[in-house]
Amino acid sequence: MITTIDEEQGIVIVRNGEHEERHSLATAEGFEAASRAWVRATWDSKYVYSFAWMGRPVIQLPEDMIRLQEVIWALQPDVLIETGVAHGGSLIFYASLFEAMNKGRVIGIDIEIREHNRAAIEAHAMKKRIELLEGSSTAPEIVDQVKAMVKPGETVLVVLDSNHSKGHVLDELRAYSPLVSVGSYIVATDGIMEQVKGGPRSEDDWDWNNPKAAAHAFVAEDSRFVIEEPAFPFNEGVVTKRVTYWPDAFIKRIA
Ligand SMILES: C[S@@+](CC[C@H](N)C(=O)[O-])C[C@H]1O[C@@H](n2cnc3c(N)ncnc32)[C@H](O)[C@@H]1O
Repeated sequence: MITTIDEEQGIVIVRNGEHEERHSLATAEGFEAASRAWVRATWDSKYVYSFAWMGRPVIQLPEDMIRLQEVIWALQPDVLIETGVAHGGSLIFYASLFEAMNKGRVIGIDIEIREHNRAAIEAHAMKKRIELLEGSSTAPEIVDQVKAMVKPGETVLVVLDSNHSKGHVLDELRAYSPLVSVGSYIVATDGIMEQVKGGPRSEDDWDWNNPKAAAHAFVAEDSRFVIEEPAFPFNEGVVTKRVTYWPDAFIKRIA
């Protein structure tokens, strides 16, 4: 796909083989085409490795964090479970929202919590709302520990951001979905892999071996869940689709 942005005319031209489309940058289609190219640039340039939240690196596209904040505010969860801690920035982000909301706690799971990361998280003012577990997110003893930490009737939101292979994410979806409350979500992040195949640090199998593929496989086998992106709570523009690293990531429990 070849995307050309003409800022003088305010249009974007997308060529796919013989097919060519032109869109005004003022339209949803134009915005989507320009954003697609921009998202690819954020991957290639490692722009997403340049953010921190309250002092801890958070490896996310900021829009995804803001959109998740919209869901957290609307849902008012009691517990947010995240697989994949890394430097702890995303855990601190959720915990800081919970602190401001005066409710909620975060359970973070990582196969390896490095000493300097653990020390920084332990010393952080938001640690009071965070529990850390070390081990593979799909190990039965870890899943059992997490289940024991959630009380009956609590509203639970789950974010999967660990190993992004289709098989691992599908196993995580099967393991953690029973904890998700009706009306809440299990979020399979980073389906962007499909879109950035061919870019730096990508693998040849990313077109099928990714969290988005796992999300689709999961909803096909479990009718209590559907892929459903939460609507924007506020929107005075023409755009209705998010700019995201998390395509088809929001899996809602409907029954
Ligand atoms: C993308 S990083 C997480 C980024 C973090 N959520 C953030 O937003 O800053 C992925 C993390 O998943 C962890 N990981 C990889 N395989 C895992 C597994 N099987 N179980 C749990 N964590 C795993 C890695 O150690 C790494 O820290």
